[in-house]
Amino acid sequence: MMTAITVGVLRELAAGERRVALTPDVTARLAGTGMVVLVQSGAGSAAWFPDEAYAAAGASVVDRGAVYAGSDVIVCVRPPGDSERLREGQALVGLLNPLADPGLARRLAEAKVTGVSLDLLPRTLSRAQSMDALTSQANVAGYKAALVAADAYGGYFPMLMTAAGTTRPARVLVLGAGVAGLQAIATCRRLGAQVTGYDVRAAARADIASTGAAVLDLAVPTAEGEAGYARELSDAEARAQQAALDAATAGFDAVITTAQVPGRRPPRLVTADALAAMRPGSVVVDLAASEPGGNVEGSAPGQHVVTDRGVTVIGAGNLPAAVPAAASTAYARNIAALLGHLIRDGALAVDPADEIDAGVVVTHDGDVVQPQVRGLVEEDRS
Ligand code: NAI
Repeated sequence: MMTAITVGVLRELAAGERRVALTPDVTARLAGTGMVVLVQSGAGSAAWFPDEAYAAAGASVVDRGAVYAGSDVIVCVRPPGDSERLREGQALVGLLNPLADPGLARRLAEAKVTGVSLDLLPRTLSRAQSMDALTSQANVAGYKAALVAADAYGGYFPMLMTAAGTTRPARVLVLGAGVAGLQAIATCRRLGAQVTGYDVRAAARADIASTGAAVLDLAVPTAEGEAGYARELSDAEARAQQAALDAATAGFDAVITTAQVPGRRPPRLVTADALAAMRPGSVVVDLAASEPGGNVEGSAPGQHVVTDRGVTVIGAGNLPAAVPAAASTAYARNIAALLGHLIRDGALAVDPADEIDAGVVVTHDGDVVQPQVRGLVEEDRS
């Protein structure tokens, strides 16, 4: 008889991380296909999935050491800080972010661990869409960004007609209309705000219009790059965009920025001048906030700053972790779809000729096999 593959779920250890890689629902589905599931006690508790729910779904609830000792495949949201406990022949599946941290890939390869990273999934393949964790988590982030903006704003988002008079709806600008931006637009509209969106890609402008939001026309050329992403603007294009944006931003009560260009620092779209021109009480939420800088001048991840003029600038931290049940539910389905693809005949089988495998499998058989990551690891060594 073939032995069943064992999938292990670790409790996330990163500060503020409340997601879990498998939910009880998905656990039951995997167990139903004959997999053995080991769940670290407490793994789902920050997302309101108690140990008992995993046990009822057919998992064994065990301690961390037993997950490491007994699993063929360990699933995680973010790379575990104690990944040195993985051993030869095991696999680690999660959002490993190897383009930002190629050192982890090097260590996994040295330990002969198969590293599989969902953030390298080829997003244009339709058969990979059910596995697309970047999209599922960006949806959550966009939704939460709208709530964060509404929460920090001192007025109403909707127009309200009350005995005390009528309030005007908040005017919201969303910069960058990819997955997160479109969800922020949709959520702000559901809250009743008057929403305007802007993106450098023509397709994204059409997407904004299809939500019913207004499209900001800056009279700047479009900038499509590869695989549905934006390209970096030339200096002249960026200057023209900035001048027009600075003038437009001041008219909004809330601005949500989500603009990213793969492999580059996020473009600066809201300058100190634009912040200075906004009304006191207005709010800016920067989803691209990162250590090297985000879309908004002066934003920092996880920080709220109020300018001298009374504009609140919120550097969004890990927003999906702030909606942990929904984010984990979507993520767990992405993981299950990926496992369904990678596990063939009861074992993890890597097929380098398959486009999905070629994208997500970072390390295998002692080598860094993903070309982009391999390039970075070699650069690090030289
Ligand atoms: P992202 O997180 O890389 O970027 C967010 C948005 O910022 C993008 O829409 C981008 O055009 C915009 N942006 C970049 N520079 C900007 C600037 N200077 N000013 C204004 N906006 C700027 O993108 P995300 O959300 O990961 O996906 C981008 C697109 O790729 C989306 O339309 C998404 O639907 C598409 N995509 C395509 C797939 C496919 O099947 N081809 C699958 C998944 C995503």
